[in-house]
Amino acid sequence: MDLSTVYMSMKLRNPLIVGSCGLTGKPEKVKACADAGAGAVVLKSIFEEQIESELGKMTTSGDWYPEAADYINSYGMHNAVSNYLKLLEASRSLVDIPVVPSIHCFGKGDWKKFARNLESAGASALELNAFILPSDPRRTGRENEEVILDIVSDIKSQIGIPVAVKIGSYFSSVSSFVRELDESGVDGIVLFNRFVRMNFDIENLKVINGSLLSSPDETEKVLRWVSLLSPVTQGDIASTTGIHDGSAVVKHLLAGADAVQLSSVLYKKGLGVMSEMLGFVADWMGKHNYNSIQDFQGRLSQKRSNNPAEFERVQFMKTSVKA
Ligand SMILES: Cc1cc2nc3c(=O)[nH]c(=O)nc-3n(C[C@H](O)[C@H](O)[C@H](O)COP(=O)(O)O)c2cc1C
Repeated sequence: MDLSTVYMSMKLRNPLIVGSCGLTGKPEKVKACADAGAGAVVLKSIFEEQIESELGKMTTSGDWYPEAADYINSYGMHNAVSNYLKLLEASRSLVDIPVVPSIHCFGKGDWKKFARNLESAGASALELNAFILPSDPRRTGRENEEVILDIVSDIKSQIGIPVAVKIGSYFSSVSSFVRELDESGVDGIVLFNRFVRMNFDIENLKVINGSLLSSPDETEKVLRWVSLLSPVTQGDIASTTGIHDGSAVVKHLLAGADAVQLSSVLYKKGLGVMSEMLGFVADWMGKHNYNSIQDFQGRLSQKRSNNPAEFERVQFMKTSVKA
């Protein structure tokens, strides 16, 4: 059974990518992911905020001369970057699967030159985790979209490796935005990032963390959009959020994804769950007489459906839920 797939010109031995998270933040952890069967890994993101807050803290010191502040600022930035480069290089030396660094970005800061360093250090591709919470009532959706589009075209002009953008679903027209990303030359789209959630502690009247890890039902929303968008984008798609078992992997491939990214399930069940998921996919393929992923990929995308309207049904007309 051939479980290989091609994602952003990278040949993966199977479609399971360990998504950017704490499980890919150290070289030995990356090796553990590869040993457990992952097709590729996305490294824990280097955060634009992380760099900027480091720098911001330093520049508030009124005692420093501007030159000293400049020096310390660049030293701080250099450390963040060089540590990340070390993570990439060490990971690359330990595994023979693609290693994709990830930059969490939202602005036009200095981080873009890091991308060239990452390319030189042997990155197989680059993932941009580009997110702006649309909470500012003075900023239009279009302004937020343009920030991401500018980042992509800027990065694409600076590096030659494939670039993926990991987006959330907070767009007034996800389809039109994905088309624009396509036109900006992006090679892959990761749908949809699951952001940190918040909740309330009603006894102590405090804001607390919401659920850190996803649940399997969260993947249904992603499945719809992968089915709708896979036929309209030239780039590849990696599905993320709520993929917890082999059947979910099959569903996303049927919807047209080229690969899937896993995080929560690996925290909940351990890295060994990847071989169970791959076993399920192989068994399912055997049962349905498919020899390769290409034989069935996209079979349930909207474009190949006899009833495309069912992918867009959103209102309850009649319900089978028992009261
Ligand atoms: C502990 C943890 C840390 C994460 N850190 C990052 C990160 O640094 N960058 C990123 O793009 N996504 C990060 N994510 C999001 C995951 O990559 C993934 O997109 C999300 O959790 C949804 O997939 P899942 O349902 O398989 O967890 C993180 C997720 C978790 C649970």
